[in-house]
Amino acid sequence: MASITDRTVTNHPPTALRHAGVRSWVDEIASLTSPEEVRWCDGSAGEYAELCDALVDAGTFVRLDPVLRPNSFLARTDPSDVARVEDRTFICSQTAEDAGPTNNWVEPAEMRRELRAWFSGSMRGRTLYVIPFSMGPVGSPISQIGIEITDSPYVVVNMAIMARVGDEVLEALGADGEFVRCLHSVGAPLESGAQDVAWPCNPDVKYISHFPEDREIWSYGSGYGGNALLGKKCLALRIASTMGRDDGWMAEHMALIGVRSPDGATSYVAAAFPSACGKTNFAMLIPPAEMASKGWAVTTVGDDIAWIKPDEQGRLRAINPEAGYFGVAPGTSEATNPSAMATIRENTIFTNVALTDAGDVWWEGMGVDAPEHLIDWRGQDWSPGSDTPAAHPNARFTAPADQNPVIDDRWDDPDGVPISAFVFGGRRSGTMPLVVQAPNWAYGVYLAATMGSETTAAAFAQQGVVRRDPFAMRPFAGYHMGSYISHWLNVGRRLSAPPRIFAVNWFRRDENGDFTWPGFGENMRVLAWIVERAEGGAGAIESPLGWMPTHRDLDWDGLDHPEEAFLEAMSVHRDEWAAELTAHDELFVNLWDRIPKEMLAVKELLTSGLWRSPEDWAMLPDPT
Ligand code: GTP
Ligand code: SPV
Ligand code: MN
Repeated sequence: MASITDRTVTNHPPTALRHAGVRSWVDEIASLTSPEEVRWCDGSAGEYAELCDALVDAGTFVRLDPVLRPNSFLARTDPSDVARVEDRTFICSQTAEDAGPTNNWVEPAEMRRELRAWFSGSMRGRTLYVIPFSMGPVGSPISQIGIEITDSPYVVVNMAIMARVGDEVLEALGADGEFVRCLHSVGAPLESGAQDVAWPCNPDVKYISHFPEDREIWSYGSGYGGNALLGKKCLALRIASTMGRDDGWMAEHMALIGVRSPDGATSYVAAAFPSACGKTNFAMLIPPAEMASKGWAVTTVGDDIAWIKPDEQGRLRAINPEAGYFGVAPGTSEATNPSAMATIRENTIFTNVALTDAGDVWWEGMGVDAPEHLIDWRGQDWSPGSDTPAAHPNARFTAPADQNPVIDDRWDDPDGVPISAFVFGGRRSGTMPLVVQAPNWAYGVYLAATMGSETTAAAFAQQGVVRRDPFAMRPFAGYHMGSYISHWLNVGRRLSAPPRIFAVNWFRRDENGDFTWPGFGENMRVLAWIVERAEGGAGAIESPLGWMPTHRDLDWDGLDHPEEAFLEAMSVHRDEWAAELTAHDELFVNLWDRIPKEMLAVKELLTSGLWRSPEDWAMLPDPT
């Protein structure tokens, strides 16, 4: 095989590179993909600035106004490349049984054959970038190293924000450390002399393929988000969940927050909500003034992913493996999330939002009236009368975590933070009460495993259909979902004091279709109860589903919310639960070959709790 140096220009591999395996893999991929140039990235500010300038020249980036939005850029994608592609996401484990019924599976040798054909020459006319990155603080015992090879400079600058990139990663890797091979191509080779497009991708062919046993990722055809920033969903969830299964830890789709209570103590809470169901809002929650003045405060450790490991004392400790936020822009405003608005003031990459004539960004739900004229996410003129949204509903911002004004002091502590409680919550217009505490770990695992969420107009054609999303991990578990549930039970058995598990539902509606709960900052009232329960205080009563606060167990100071509305949000209706339990059966039948027997036992107990009296269970008003 000809050496790539015969025809490819390459900058010198960094002196920090001592790992022969990295070098030979890069050579091998360069031979396969035939780039014009190979470039080793060092994660420096100079490199970031240079690539952003080049992206502006290429038309991929628009530089935003330096006063309104300093050092920030807008990218518009190809209209076909706006979100993760779940139907083109593959878990290529040795056996189909290991991938399980919730994943797409292709036999690994077959997938490699297909991929090699697509990657062959796929980087012609482009630069191959090598990005050494660490998920988690460099050197933390919980962190993992990846090397991403990509032909997208947009990916390089986003990865520089989302992960720790640079020579210190290669130092930590040493001569023989383990790393995850992350290969990415936009799948749009540039024939010599051809003019490039602003957002190269392959509109017709996409593969997001994972080889869990080999700890390898091959992503082809898309430049967007979780499809292309391979440290995020591909490594930190799909590959890492498999590592966690093998080595006794957990990789979860969770926000991770510190909650300071009036006594000055901080408890850490990990919250799993499905995509676009409020993790970023929860991670940056601003308590209502009346509660803040008593000493309640929330700080962010992470907004999307948590890696969780039992320590020597049998407590769970967690880190946020990421270094930035890739957050949904629409709906983010000074009212709903002021900390996110502060985080994205500068040094931010916006993707698929609208551009104002002044050179700033705009989106639906930003809390400011739409200007008379905008350029929409497709690059077209837009005015308030237009019948399509100006920003794509899945438009995102990429911003450094350390710009968050409510970042937790320990957010990058290599030892992680101790977890006191887990919270699970989907988007349910009925059935699920505002909050319930599972009586024990197995019940909690049941509530998490059977979590459902209603599909939103933003992401899916059919609105209001409940999709089971166990642990908010359905699109992200790297192996059989039944084994995933077992793994949670296994980890729980090894803990001296397992965190308490809670289910929440911020999205319940009344018969007029209005939310029964104000949500956002007001969620602090529920969160305060959760933390007090987890630390052994706060009152509760027993419901058929678990422990629930009565009206007087929550702090209502400063909120005018009638007790009847609270009772409605907390109600448990038997007809709804009959349908719900049947839906759980569907999930369990689907996972039948690996479903742990505890799940079936808990289901029987829940059923008996719901049916033990001839009446609907109802929480009664507090006696006055
Ligand atoms: P990914 O980044 O896709 O994993 O999602 P995420 O969980 O971080 O989602 P995000 O925070 O971007 O979700 C935003 C959506 O949730 C918006 O539609 C918000 O209006 C809605 N949302 C967040 N918190 C609340 C709440 O307390 N109540 C209600 N009703 N909606 C909320
Ligand atoms: C999600 O879909 O849950 C995200 C966005 O966090 S992406 O990184 O694109 O997957
Ligand atoms: Mn997510």
